[in-house]
Amino acid sequence: MDQWLLRKEGFDPGDAAADGNRFLCANGYMGLRGVPEEAGRELFPAINLAGVYDQYGDRWREPVNAPNALWIGTWFDGRPLSVEDASPASHVTELDYRYGIYRRHTDFGPLRIDSRRLVSMASPHLLLDEYRLTICQDGELRVRTGISTEIWDINGPHLFDFSHKTGETLRTCCVTGEKGIRVAAAQCVDTDWPAAEEQTRGGDGVFRCFRRAVRRGEVWTFRVFASVWTSLDTPEPSEAARACCLQAKAEGFAACLESHRQAWERIWARSEIALEGDGEAALALHASQYHLNCIAPRHADRMSIPARGLSGQTYKGAIFWDAEMFFFPMFVYTQPEIARSLLRYRIATLPGARQKAAEYGYRGAFYAWESQEGGKEGCTNFNVVDVFTHRPVRTYFRDRQIHISADIAYALWHYFEITGDRSLLKEGGASVILECARFYLSRANGHLDSEQVDFADVIGPDEYHERVSNNAFTNQMIAACLEYALRLKEVFADQPDWFGSLLEELGYEADWERLPDLLRRIRPPREQGGVLEQFDGYFALEDCGLDTVRSRLRDPREYWGGDHGVAGTTQVIKQADVLALMALLPERFTDEQVAASWAYYEPRTEHGSSLSACMYALTACRVGRLEEAWRLFMKTAQIDVLGGGKQWAGEIYIGGTHPASNGGAWMIAVLGFAGLRMRGGRLTLHPRLPRQIKRLSFPVTAAGRRYRVEVTREGGTVVPL
Ligand code: BGC
Repeated sequence: MDQWLLRKEGFDPGDAAADGNRFLCANGYMGLRGVPEEAGRELFPAINLAGVYDQYGDRWREPVNAPNALWIGTWFDGRPLSVEDASPASHVTELDYRYGIYRRHTDFGPLRIDSRRLVSMASPHLLLDEYRLTICQDGELRVRTGISTEIWDINGPHLFDFSHKTGETLRTCCVTGEKGIRVAAAQCVDTDWPAAEEQTRGGDGVFRCFRRAVRRGEVWTFRVFASVWTSLDTPEPSEAARACCLQAKAEGFAACLESHRQAWERIWARSEIALEGDGEAALALHASQYHLNCIAPRHADRMSIPARGLSGQTYKGAIFWDAEMFFFPMFVYTQPEIARSLLRYRIATLPGARQKAAEYGYRGAFYAWESQEGGKEGCTNFNVVDVFTHRPVRTYFRDRQIHISADIAYALWHYFEITGDRSLLKEGGASVILECARFYLSRANGHLDSEQVDFADVIGPDEYHERVSNNAFTNQMIAACLEYALRLKEVFADQPDWFGSLLEELGYEADWERLPDLLRRIRPPREQGGVLEQFDGYFALEDCGLDTVRSRLRDPREYWGGDHGVAGTTQVIKQADVLALMALLPERFTDEQVAASWAYYEPRTEHGSSLSACMYALTACRVGRLEEAWRLFMKTAQIDVLGGGKQWAGEIYIGGTHPASNGGAWMIAVLGFAGLRMRGGRLTLHPRLPRQIKRLSFPVTAAGRRYRVEVTREGGTVVPL
């Protein structure tokens, strides 16, 4: 079995949305959904742009999809040849994970289309398609290629005032409605087609048309070079797009392909996990790493990654805690410069987090639950639509999921611990940690008659139970955040003046004195026989099992959480919560606590979020439940191979790729199965290989050095490179 290839035979319009995700190509700047070249809006084509947002009317703000600069349509004897309508004799779609190349092979009878397409990893604004037609019957061929403005949007339209230019490079320019960001696309073609082309521009875009009589046996190839830029990148995006295409055309398809392949080779040299013993698992790991690597913002130094990557506009293209808890670990251990960029995005958006805290009457930094550009909160008060009344449901994710600030502090601290580099703390990271700690000082709920401090009215990772108190995850992550804040003083012990002036600059002297007090008084988790209670009163909820809860649904798309959801009054939870805490802060819990909590919560967990299984897998490794760890690993790693995952939350479409699972697969393999840890500046291993795995081998970077880790049944080694 090829451990680098995803292959699908046939075409089913019902799978188009899922396949667009599974066959995604991306390079961090943009994502090109895996749909055939000729696809119209109904098959969800998109070139999704990272970090470019727009709001249309009062609909949700979401990232912008660019004009489709790789559109190609083909007609034979006047008949349009599209996978949807022309019932091809065969159709195969492939994705080569090693080099991020999408291929399609379609036999329409009178002709075959074989194309390969990519989003260049060597040149962030460049897209390429080599489109080859093999003529199987005499007739008239027409090929139309250009920039289509038929754009699929969830909450659009976002682009207006289209203008087009013809010439050697076709060009389209338009602007976003909200902020007037200019978006430009350009396209040129290299072909040995022997007849003149005809160019048109109009309401649906700008195109060139190749038309002539062809004969059986002929082969015609069109090498398309396309480019997308916005006015956020350069003051003259249209010129930049033109120049980029022309340069690529001058270099030639083969040379551009080669640079792209070399860029991917470099990525794999730093990150590939090779797994021996199970081909499906090896493929799933490559798929997971491909998907996470291809959306990393390599072109920017302060940018993060949305929850659905660059696969579309789902989840408003927003940055969630997913970035710090699930994407960050693979990057910090393999490509720390990307981890740094994710965190610099948080540093840069500290003003937005301060503003959000102030809006709610608090001090410090309360980060957006769904963060868009500038840290703007994308999460609305109504994040779910009821399937029965079609009315928006008031949800409290934005207001109460306060663990987000502690999650960011956690990642900043771990960046320092793993890389040994304190420059990020110095360049704003320390301020973020201190401001997050300050937020918790102002958010804590004290009592006149008790020493203990609560964090009341919160939401933990399990979003089905809203507005609970003393969520164990939240309280413990807050405690960790306060500790990191206090430990900053030791980190900068050799620079007391610098640290003192930072506290002064933040007006922090009084708060600094209060941190140890809050830390001491935070309500510890309650426990029953080693099982941590998820929040106050959780054990008293109806304990009725997942199947019972599921049987109460009247519509499969019904939302399980909130006031009226079927899970809210029961012990059934959406995703790992207590176990996520145990995975993130393992040293705070004993093996007995983890084992008891795992046995209690796993059967009560719906795994309704793709963030869940990996936390259970990690903790399963710790307590020796290796069969379960393996099952949950496969569930995590295969998610974007199989195209699974929940598609709906109420009436909201939530499909897309699953970067959190992709990062989760890396975490299970490296932190779980190999048991890698960075402790006191040293890497340690504690292998726990499930029987299905014979050997794991992967590179890691820690404290500025690169190592190769090998783990077999006999044990493990960490060898400096
Ligand atoms: C999960 C959150 C997650 C978000 C984005 C939600 O369904 O409950 O934990 O951050 O999806 O992935």
